[in-house]
Amino acid sequence: MKLSRASIPDDDLNKQLRAAKSQLALYAKDLKALLFREQKKSQKLEAVNKQLQAYAQDLKAAYGAEQRKTRELEKSYADTVVRLTLASRYKDEETGTHIQRLSHYSKTLAVSIGFDEDDAQLIFDAAPMHDVGKVGIPDRIMQKRGPLDETEWAIVKRHPVFGANLLAGSPSLLLETAREIALTHHERWDGSGYPQGLTGEAIPLGGRMVMLADTYDALRSRRPYKPAFSHQKTRDIILNGNDRTKPQHFDPTLLEAFRELHVEFDRIFSEIREEPSTQEE
Ligand SMILES: [Fe+2]
Ligand SMILES: [Fe+2]
Repeated sequence: MKLSRASIPDDDLNKQLRAAKSQLALYAKDLKALLFREQKKSQKLEAVNKQLQAYAQDLKAAYGAEQRKTRELEKSYADTVVRLTLASRYKDEETGTHIQRLSHYSKTLAVSIGFDEDDAQLIFDAAPMHDVGKVGIPDRIMQKRGPLDETEWAIVKRHPVFGANLLAGSPSLLLETAREIALTHHERWDGSGYPQGLTGEAIPLGGRMVMLADTYDALRSRRPYKPAFSHQKTRDIILNGNDRTKPQHFDPTLLEAFRELHVEFDRIFSEIREEPSTQEE
């Protein structure tokens, strides 16, 4: 039924209007209360949010301080190990400049196969500790003039394990990398190395890089059993082999990298050396 203005008496209309008005007023009141509650809620949320942000800031500051502390601790620990490495050089024909060069060769290799700056720097910092285990080898063997007998060789070959034990158990990434390198820097790609006779990719990359770098530097240096070789001769031995060194000892990817950047190895060797007049063959 259609309701027309004319069919409703005035009184009824007023009543209806009043009822609607008070209903509206109630709605408005409810709405206001709702709005108030919402406002309170969002104020509370804002306060909680602020509080959370403050916590996050505190946490960030604490984390930063903790990280700084860890870095400092790591640095001083690494410093101790580096000093130990320097001390070990007195037992060996290898010199302080050898370990410096080793860092540079290894980092060059790392960069050339795509390591980012941080990872390449890690190899640079860890490489000097590769022979730290030599502190555990008796002087009479380390300083013996003339060839070592079989028993003496067996003792020398323990230095990777000694070194790894010395560097083990640290939460520091640097020392863990150094441990890995110390343990594996005499392993060979074809499995003919020591102490574990690992093959191929079972040898950590750091160990493979330091092994190539160490071989290059040993060939360029005078040893009781051999003269110092020229860069050309050393490059030829690494790429094509001789009676002691074979190309299959090296990671093929690193060998290719060496083929590309061998000049850089020569530059590092020439720039970082103690006796400029080493006789070369
Ligand atoms: Fe070694
Ligand atoms: Fe070395």
